[in-house]
This record gives sequence, C-alpha cells and structure tokens, in this order.
Amino acid sequence: MGKGKMNQKAAALKEQTEAAQKSAQAGKAGKPAQKKGGRTAADKAAVAETTGRKAEAADRTADEGLTKIFEERLHRHHDELRWLYMELYENDSMFAELCDQMYQFYMERNDELKKLDTNREKDKEWYKKNDMLGMMFYIDNFAGNMKGVQSRLDYIEQCNVNYIHLMPFLDTPEGRSDGGYAVADFRKVQEKLGSMEDLDALTAACHKKGINVCMDFVMNHTSEDHEWAQKARQGDGEYMSRYFFYDSWDIPAQYEKTVPQVFPTTAPGNFTWLEDIGHYVMTSFYPYQWDLNYRNPRVFNDMMYNFLYLANRGIDIIRIDAVPYIWKELNTPCRNLQQVHTIVRMMRIIGEIICPSVLLLGEVVMEPEKVVPYFGSVEKPECHMLYNVTTMATTWHTVATRNVKLLKRQLDIVNGLPKEYVFLNYLRCHDDIGWGLDYGTLQTEGFGERSHKQYLNDYFQGYAGESTSRGELYNADPVTGDARFCGTTASMCGIEKAGFEQDEAAMERAVRMDLMLHAYMFMQSGIPVLYSGDEIGQVNDYTYKEDPNKAADSRYIHRGAMNWKLAENRKDPDTVEGKMFQGLAQLEQIRRSEKVFMTEADTWTIETWDDAVLCIGRYFEGEKLIGLFNFSEYDRTAWIKEADGEYVDLLTGSKIQPVDVQMPAYGFFYMKKIS
Ligand code: GLC
Repeated sequence: MGKGKMNQKAAALKEQTEAAQKSAQAGKAGKPAQKKGGRTAADKAAVAETTGRKAEAADRTADEGLTKIFEERLHRHHDELRWLYMELYENDSMFAELCDQMYQFYMERNDELKKLDTNREKDKEWYKKNDMLGMMFYIDNFAGNMKGVQSRLDYIEQCNVNYIHLMPFLDTPEGRSDGGYAVADFRKVQEKLGSMEDLDALTAACHKKGINVCMDFVMNHTSEDHEWAQKARQGDGEYMSRYFFYDSWDIPAQYEKTVPQVFPTTAPGNFTWLEDIGHYVMTSFYPYQWDLNYRNPRVFNDMMYNFLYLANRGIDIIRIDAVPYIWKELNTPCRNLQQVHTIVRMMRIIGEIICPSVLLLGEVVMEPEKVVPYFGSVEKPECHMLYNVTTMATTWHTVATRNVKLLKRQLDIVNGLPKEYVFLNYLRCHDDIGWGLDYGTLQTEGFGERSHKQYLNDYFQGYAGESTSRGELYNADPVTGDARFCGTTASMCGIEKAGFEQDEAAMERAVRMDLMLHAYMFMQSGIPVLYSGDEIGQVNDYTYKEDPNKAADSRYIHRGAMNWKLAENRKDPDTVEGKMFQGLAQLEQIRRSEKVFMTEADTWTIETWDDAVLCIGRYFEGEKLIGLFNFSEYDRTAWIKEADGEYVDLLTGSKIQPVDVQMPAYGFFYMKKIS
C-alpha cells in the first residue's frame, strides 16, 4: 500500500472512529437518564427530598466514574478493534452498534463482577498460581441441576478444586444435542438444570469460595431449533444469510473436496440436505448443528452480545468451542483461517473492555503448530489458555509403549514456549482421545502411522496381551482406517479390569498407575484439570447403550453419572476410592503449597537412562523439584546426573539421593532440593 493511500485510510478511520464514539456516547446517555426518571417518582412522593437529591448526585458521580473506566478501556483498544472489524466487515454502522452494546453490557455488569475485574486487572497473573486446579463435569451427572452443584461446593473444595467447568447447560433439543453442543437459545438454561437466576446464584456462591466458573461458548454453530435457524428454514433471506445455504450441490461439492470430516462415521460429510426447503445447509458436526456464517457482521455482533451476556452471569472462563472452524472459505480445509484469529483477537479485546476478569480458553484439538497461534502474540494476545492436547495423546502412547522418548520430546517442545502461554493439562476430557502424535519422529523409530494407531486402539480396548485397559473406539473411519478412543482414566489404567476380575495385586498396580499419571500431569507446565469421577477412580459407564439418544456416540462411555455412593468411600484408605482420593489430595496439597509449581516456573525434562522412566525438573525462585515417573509395570532404576546435593521426597518426607533411584512399578517421586 502506498503512503498516500495509507494516509487516506487513516483519515477515513479517524472519521469512522469519531462516528462510533459518538454513537457510544449516545448509548451512555441512555442509561443514567432512565435511572433518573425512576427516582423522580420517588421524589414526588416527597419522602426525603434532600437525601434523595444527595443520593442522586452520588449516583451520578458513581456512574460517571464507571463510564470513565469504560472509556479508558475502550480508548486503549478502540483503534485496533475498529481496524480489525473494518478489515472483516467494512461496516460502520454495525461497528457503532457493537460499541453501543458493549457499553450497555458494561453498565449491566454487576458491582461484584466489576470489582473482580479491577482486582484482576491489577493482578494479571492471577490464574497462573500453583493453587489453580480445575474439574469438569456435566451438571446433571454431577449433581442433578444447578442448585445441586451449589450444594456440592464443599465436595469441590475437598477436591482442592478452584475452577469448575460446567459442561454445556444452555437450552438444547433433547436427542439432538451433541452433549449440549447444539445450542437452541444462548440465554436460556436447560429447564431440567435450572434457570439463569440459578446460574447467577451458583457463580456468586462459587466466587464467595474462591471458585472460578467455566462454561462453553459454542460459537461455530447453533442448533437447528435456534430461532435464527427456524426463521431461515421458513425461507427468510436475512436469517438464511446467517448460515450457509445452497440450492444445489455445486458449491457444497467444492467444499467437500478440501474440508475434512469431523464425525466421519456418526455424521459423515459437511452438508445436510433439507428436503422441506430444497436447500443444503453446512453442518460440519451433526446435521442438526448448523454452521454460522461469520462473514455476516450481524452474526458476529449478536454472538458477541451473547458472549457478554453470559460473562455478566459471573462466568470466569469462556471456553470457545471448536474455535478453528469458525471461518469458512472455499478451496481451503476451513480450519484455522486467518479470519478466525481476527475474530478471536476481537473477542479478547471486547472482553478486556467489558469484563477483563474473564479468561478465554480456546478449544483447539490439533497439532502443536496449529494450537500455539491461538495464544496470539505477547502484544496482541488471543486466548489466555489452550488445551495441551498433543501432550495428552502422547501420554497414552507412552502408557501403551512404556517408552518415554516421544513424550520427553513433546514436553521439551511445550517447555520451550514462552511462559506467557498457559496450557490446560489433562489426562482425558469429555471427548475422545485422537491419536494426533508426532508421526514424523515415530517413523524414524520404525512406527508407521496407520499401524501404530491400530496398535493403540487395540491396546486400549484391551486386546494386546500386556494391556489392562478397557474402553471403546470412536468414529472408526472405514475409509482412512482411523479411529479415536473413549474410556475413563481409571478404566484405561486397569481399575475396571482388576475390579471385574477381583485381582487385588492388579488393582494395587492400576491405582498406582492412575496416581502416577496424575502426579506427572501436575508436574507439567500449566493448569491441571480433572474430569469429575476420576478423583475416585470411576470406571466406564456402559448404560449409554440403552439410551437411543446416546447409543451411537461412544463418548458417553466416559461421561457417566458421578457415583456418590462410591464417593462416600473416599475417606476409607482400604478402598479404591479412598486410595485414589487421598493419593490425589496429597499431590494437590503439595502442589498448592510448593511455589515451584507456579506456572511461571522453569520446567524441563531430564535424562534417566531408562526408556520407561520420565524425569521432569522444575525451578522457581531458588527452589528446585525433580519428579520421577515410572511408566512400566516393572521395577526400574533411574540414573540422574543432574541431581546435585540433598533432596527430600515430598510424598514420604524421607531424604533421598537422586542419583540411582530404585523405582517400583508405576512408582513416582517428587524430590525437593534441600541443600
Ligand atoms: C467440541 C466439543 C465436542 C462437540 C464439538 C461440536 O469439540 O468438545 O464435544 O461435539 O465441539 O460442538
């Protein structure tokens, strides 16, 4: 672009900016005027005229103060936001509307949340502390409904958890919900789970206990029952333009050439034919999940209003579901396009202006080079947190092969990233485990991609001789031969098999392995997240097969209801539940009391000269910790050169010389340097 043209553009932008600011001002004028009207009535009643006037003046000053905060934040981000918006939409009046609405949402945000915003603005690193521990669950499975969750907050505290991810709870059609990821109304809670008021009460109760609340923001698509989709289906062009509609197969056919399938078995293809209106609609996921068209600024604006509405309910962490998919372009894979980053960056800015205490968690289940760009840059950040998905998959590869080489390599990659990047670490979540491993490296060691995936799937189904795992395949694709895997952590560690066979020695080993994996997960750089039920070693739930709405989706095998009866055993160290719960509690206590677990700590891997033993070092402000993890069912010896001086094992309190460490099967150590 020539310099002259650049100046022209800058001048035009300035003009537009002023127009938008005026519009935002107009919005500002609206609210206080309304309030004043209400109070005039009170004055008329002549209860206490002077007091009334004083209160009014105080209120006005407070409002002005608030407006000032908003203005300052807007001012800080306005030019960039406007630039990005114009780049995508070149639509002045829609940008002005966005600014106006942002102000409205800011004014509607309650005082408690505003206080949280300012506190967290001052302490931007608040979520990087070593006490952060997450737990995710479906509300109905965990406690029936929102009120039930509120009544279980003590249990959550006992789990040392200070962040809960409430799996999708917004209105969704029964039987066509994809586990709630097909939202019919972004401002309504599923009736069986409660109401928006219940959500307000739950988030407030959580905040009182220092617990953060996370929810999904499913922005790639809506349910076919969403008001927009229904209007589109009636042929309303304005609403049709919010989705991708085609009256012939021509364009869909072109898309299909370059766009991979998400659910090749349960929902093949990326389009659905709607017989009643003679159109195809884009459906990357299930046929009842219609992809939103973010080329339409109305979609972007309204979805941002939904985001702010939900943030104002007291949500601390917004999980942006399926974020790589939100922009579609012919002749591309429709994944991770540049416009997606523009949208996420705008969302981050909008959050910083209205609700800076809210974090964005991106769901990017892809290879590392595609995940990392969602952090944005240090100057222009996008998501605050991302899932450490490749590490998760590589962990299970390590379990199956008893060889830590690939995992060590993977951890080295993650540890080499800037410390501003915060990963969520987990052993499993509500979704399947896809075998997205570094096949380039595996190839050099003689592992073929297809055969290795086959091996892992066989292994975790329990077919391979040395496997103790139980679980099921997910979306086995007959064309590519690919399949993913589902199972709870406990079942994959052998707790289900050992329980079924009443084999005590095997159970002992399985529990140790489960605890070892958690101990290793806690050592990773980032924030650990548990799946509810894993803390008591809950196994697979096969009852989903009896429910016609769930039977075709094997992910339900690891989304079973929390077994509160078994949870009662958590205090009894002779039970599986007790061993798991207390074992985890000990690790959690260590993690939250040792500052070396801060996200900012240096983290690195250390050679052990034994392929089955992983060693991780952490260092922070003069303190050093070495973690050792035996991924095999045999006793091993780890040789560590780096371990200088004296160490104490934090689990037993005994002194340890970490040079040649004898490791029991699936054993682990947390060794802290004391001199
Ligand atoms: C995300 C969710 C998954 C859901 C999909 C479609 O990947 O984790 O459960 O099926 O999005 O919304």
